[in-house]
Amino acid sequence: MAIVKAKGTYDVLPTDSYKWSFMEDKIRQVCQIFNYEEIRTPIFEASELFHRTVGETSDLVKKETYDFKDRGDRLVTLRPEGTAGVVRAFIENKMFVEPINKLFYIGSMFRYERPQKGRYRQFNQFGVECFGSSDPIMDAEVISLAVTIIRAFNLKGIKVRLNTLGDDQTRETYKKALVEYFTQYRDVICPDCQVRLEKNPLRILDCKVDRDTEIFKNAPKIIDYLSDEAKSRFNKVLEYLKEMNINFEVDPMIVRGLDYYTHTIFEIEASIEGFGSQNVMCGGGRYDHLVENLGGPSTPGIGFAFGLERLLAAIEAEHNLNSENQIHLFIIALGDKARLKAMKLVNDMRLGGLITEMDYLNGKLKNQFKMSEKYHARYIGILGDTELENNVINVKTPNSTEQVTIPLDSLYSYVVNKLRSGSCSGCSSSCGDCNCDCEAKENE
Ligand code: HAM
Repeated sequence: MAIVKAKGTYDVLPTDSYKWSFMEDKIRQVCQIFNYEEIRTPIFEASELFHRTVGETSDLVKKETYDFKDRGDRLVTLRPEGTAGVVRAFIENKMFVEPINKLFYIGSMFRYERPQKGRYRQFNQFGVECFGSSDPIMDAEVISLAVTIIRAFNLKGIKVRLNTLGDDQTRETYKKALVEYFTQYRDVICPDCQVRLEKNPLRILDCKVDRDTEIFKNAPKIIDYLSDEAKSRFNKVLEYLKEMNINFEVDPMIVRGLDYYTHTIFEIEASIEGFGSQNVMCGGGRYDHLVENLGGPSTPGIGFAFGLERLLAAIEAEHNLNSENQIHLFIIALGDKARLKAMKLVNDMRLGGLITEMDYLNGKLKNQFKMSEKYHARYIGILGDTELENNVINVKTPNSTEQVTIPLDSLYSYVVNKLRSGSCSGCSSSCGDCNCDCEAKENE
């Protein structure tokens, strides 16, 4: 029996992989504009890292991690999220010697969740982590980066929701209020929340079972328990966002599912049909104690992560991402001698930057033409014995009667000039090879 993919995983085939490249390229451009540098950390880490970072009582660590012992009897975990590994690397590589570090990453994460649309066991995140500043201006920059990603893809119907978890004093007072409130309903709330009531009362608000009930809606709101300092800090973040014309709403019910957050937390939601609660495509917040808790010097941090499957679904719901799989030149060779020369020509063209293809199956003329069609070749070079003897090649423009015979050594400049004569004013590539919306392209 053939082996099939593991549950909750998926293949990205060439029919879709160009969409991923398009999305990732744009993300990298935005990160560059914001001056964030890429960091790549291992896909597995010591299990203890995630237990200490994400929190023992979080659903993520309790139920969702891929833990295993390696052959050296070490307990390791496939990373369920990116922050823990980045913080570990930040400390281990003494990156804290720099006053500010602005980092981003793109990569696979692993969570043992019930797979459904927009929820996988291996999924991809784009995340940023920013270390060194506890100033509200940093919160505003990080949120504006996330919003710029949304804008770069021209997504509509997006909601940015913000809340604050305040400082230590705020959370202590608020936890007491929550315990007092939910103790009245101890027998009604779900068994998981009964445990949370003892161990991590804040997490109760994240309950997937009872979140929408009246009891939950009437629960105390953290916003009413903020210390004066925490309140004025949060207001400053909001002021910066307003100044940048970023639309948001304050949602006192967001608590986020990970233990490391302090102060500002936020989520970005899209409305993708059929995605239900998987509509949250980005989540993040400040974590001012995490570096210290993991053994580093006290350093404030803030970041977020987008689920890339969800972001791509949102992009595809609004835009038609056409395949860019269009080659510049296909060389048809007829006969052994011609094939030998064609191989060299293809190689030379590629070295000059032309996307060039040939037939690898020694097919008949008709089949080679078919293959050039499959690749949407802009030009087709045809090389047979007669052309070889005369050191020339026939160049045909598909779907037109245009065909010329040119010297072999001018093939490269001929194709480049042809491509250039139809090139966009908005970018340097030839028409049809770019995603730009310039006038030249529209008039084509
Ligand atoms: P998170 O909210 O756990 O935060 O995940 C961020 C995003 O990853 C979610 O909003 C969602 O789009 C996506 N995601 C999560 N689980 C799945 C899944 N099973 N399948 C598909 N997509 C999923 C974090 O991971 C934090 N590390 C974010 C952060 C960075 N906070 C500060 N810095």
